[in-house]
Amino acid sequence: MSSLTWLSVEELERDKKLPLFKKTLEIYEAQFKEQATGISYAPGRVEILGNHTDYNGGHVMSVALDVGTAVAFKTQSGTTTHVYSDSFQKFETFEVNTEDRASDPNSKWTDYIKGALREVPEIILNSQGANLAVVTDLPMGSGLSSSASLTISTLIAGLILSDQKSIEPMDLAQRGQHSEVEFVGMPCGLLDQFSSVFGRENHLLYLDCEQLTHDAIPLTHEKVVIVIADSGIRHQLVDGEYAKLKASCERACKELGTLLDKPLRFLRDVSSEEFFRVYDQLDPQDRRRAKHVILENERVLLGKEIASQNTKELGRLMVQSHESSRDDFGNSCRELDLLVEIAQKLPGFLGGKLSGGGFGGSAVFLVNEEESPHFIAGLKDGFESVSTTSVSPYKASIGDCARGYRWA
Ligand code: GLA
Repeated sequence: MSSLTWLSVEELERDKKLPLFKKTLEIYEAQFKEQATGISYAPGRVEILGNHTDYNGGHVMSVALDVGTAVAFKTQSGTTTHVYSDSFQKFETFEVNTEDRASDPNSKWTDYIKGALREVPEIILNSQGANLAVVTDLPMGSGLSSSASLTISTLIAGLILSDQKSIEPMDLAQRGQHSEVEFVGMPCGLLDQFSSVFGRENHLLYLDCEQLTHDAIPLTHEKVVIVIADSGIRHQLVDGEYAKLKASCERACKELGTLLDKPLRFLRDVSSEEFFRVYDQLDPQDRRRAKHVILENERVLLGKEIASQNTKELGRLMVQSHESSRDDFGNSCRELDLLVEIAQKLPGFLGGKLSGGGFGGSAVFLVNEEESPHFIAGLKDGFESVSTTSVSPYKASIGDCARGYRWA
């Protein structure tokens, strides 16, 4: 993928997301009583393989969705930025500066915006103000990376507002990750931001999180679809559980380095053969987490090789991934386990697993297209017959990458 440059208003007219863009521009005009001069968009994602491997320097496989966050914008004289969020039906006003380190506990969503704008040095240097209207068609809080899509979309808006002509896509993804880690306080890896920036319609995405090499693998030859089911369980990943898992992986990596007498930067540098050689000597909890990460990396590498010819095998790897999250990594929950267990007995099922941080959020399934209506109905019925909560599984489409438009 070459550098990301901004598209024109003629191209906007042909964009599949035009209805969302029109809505966003209308909301901008209604709220700010002026017309925006550009619009940015970044999609959400769903993780296919590579659970908690990204911050361990490992391998991931994902898809970008065809839903995401749009930001309409215009520069303002003065230093103040006004943001309107359609989801919260709320205005926030702030100034972007390097001293502002304080997260606002009452308005987490503005942290993502402030954090993203801080990644555009020109905005800070020129103390530039702007009006922004944020509209999303991505379900929030269901583990589909609404935060990365908001961050990346705002970053693109910031780059256009400060008159940058282009950006390297990996630089954009890394700035997005940096802002979430440093400003919002979520110690995430690169999976979500990478997927949003590199998304490609009908393609699986692969990333080596250490080397930053990546690929897009077509998922078009067989009639398979992606089905997503929100477990309805919400878990605030910023609140510490995610950081604990990360710390556990880092401890295991350190211990393994000593035991194997080999310099290790990440768990990704350990083969399963080396790992099992010293398994008994590792801390019991940390070694189960390390086992998940090390074997998960192998699954992604295998998945990458076979994904375009053998979706059945890809599906099998997804089930193994889920079982490993459930039994070893410890980041599943009863509802996610139930969804995956019920799904396996349904027509059309190829594979399924939890997606993202875990402890709730969404499960993702690979399903034969023809049988997907029966699969979706069966999953809903099966789940609701054993749970007190409801579920509404749906077919998801694989969408294109983040993009920005400017016309003034
Ligand atoms: C969250 C994080 C990602 C990644 C996944 C788990 O989505 O934001 O960086 O670690 O969890 O794979």
